[in-house]
Amino acid sequence: MSKKVYIETYGCQMNIADTEIVISILKNNGFQSTDIMEEADLILVNTCSVRENAEQRIRGRLQVFNTIKTNKPEILIGIIGCMAERLKKQLLEEEKMLDIIVGPDAYRSLPKLIKKAGTGQKAVNVILSNEETYADINPIRLRKNKISAFISIMRGCENMCTYCIVPYTRGVERSRNPQTIVNEASNLFKEGYKEIILIGQNVDSYNWVDNKKLNFAKLLKLVAEISPKLRIRFSTSHPKDMTDEVLYAMAEYNNICKNIHLPVQSGSTNVLNKMNRGYTREWYLDRVSAIKKIVPECSISTDIMVGFCDETEKDQLETLSLMKEVEYDLSFMFKYSVRPKTYAARKFEDNVPEEIKAKRLSEVVLLQNKLSKESKEKDIGKTFEVLIEGISKKSDDEFFGRNSQNKVVVFPMKNFKIGDYVNAKVEKCTSATLIGKIV
Ligand code: 5AD
Ligand code: SF4
Repeated sequence: MSKKVYIETYGCQMNIADTEIVISILKNNGFQSTDIMEEADLILVNTCSVRENAEQRIRGRLQVFNTIKTNKPEILIGIIGCMAERLKKQLLEEEKMLDIIVGPDAYRSLPKLIKKAGTGQKAVNVILSNEETYADINPIRLRKNKISAFISIMRGCENMCTYCIVPYTRGVERSRNPQTIVNEASNLFKEGYKEIILIGQNVDSYNWVDNKKLNFAKLLKLVAEISPKLRIRFSTSHPKDMTDEVLYAMAEYNNICKNIHLPVQSGSTNVLNKMNRGYTREWYLDRVSAIKKIVPECSISTDIMVGFCDETEKDQLETLSLMKEVEYDLSFMFKYSVRPKTYAARKFEDNVPEEIKAKRLSEVVLLQNKLSKESKEKDIGKTFEVLIEGISKKSDDEFFGRNSQNKVVVFPMKNFKIGDYVNAKVEKCTSATLIGKIV
């Protein structure tokens, strides 16, 4: 009888994609996945270290798994992902219920480590690799929506932003063989998938060097060529590396979605320098102008971090003014959280008091709510091509889907089905959703 694995995933899209790789590796080694924690023989948590509260949440979950282990001592519990890589063996000291610790580049060794753990020994592999891209592994798609799928195109990050733990948890940058990416996308399209999301910590530095070079813009075009009925999205772009060539590729292909996630972090050049982001406020705004010129209908989303070391009120005002200038459609906003071992943790003082961080965060959140609302109001009266993704949560008679700009549109069903493309005219909106009808 096959053994059962239950897996929980935290953190970014890379982790979701990695979980699908892990399940694939385990299935080839006699495991089947289950959604019921209590019936599992193995519990895995794919973890995130990006902020302290992400880690705290996972520590809380470990206590729940511990209770299960008390009732079923033969169950194995493993931590995988960024927290495994960051804390390594230290986790075994701190969390006695753990049997297995595996970092993001070592998933191929999981079957061996599970066997070892089955004999009562602790099993650890946190070796980072310069080459691993899991290119030959066919991920088992776990997302309920069978319309869109992640394809990881590169791993690691070498930008060394001073606040960021990722270079330590995910190692050096490496790009995946483009042919394996195109094959994976083509196969998904044949299976009925309609949308591919190309993901990496910094997709703009994708660079495959073989007998000839292939950059991200060229990869985008290759994938877009598979079919005009296959939508292509990508994330995350780094402002210092996002080229006009990528923008021209977006403009050229109707099926490359008109949405860019371009994390700014701060609107102040002083803060950006201290973060080692590799660009200034002016450089970033120039990139935004290029987007607006070359891909005029493109939506732009971002990440913003407030309260970084030495950040002043003037810096905060610059962030707010930049947000207004760009008119972001969506932002993910955070308070700076010190990550041990990073440059900022070693060299700078975390000197913005917690209440000031909270105040600044609420200012950016408030402004973003206003900008998001305005961005949706501007869409009223427009008609968009929408890919139907599912039945609306609020009503069984309505579908929801996304337009190219990644905005959710809800509309009455008519005779269509999930996976169809329809044209929907927007009639009104809420803060999160466009509401319309099929035309
Ligand atoms: N503290 C707070 N937020 C962080 N991020 C990355 N590192 C930290 C940190 N130490 C945010 C950045 C990044 C997003 C994924 O998480 O905004 O773009
Ligand atoms: Fe979290 Fe960053 Fe690791 Fe993704 S790469 S799981 S966001 S720490």
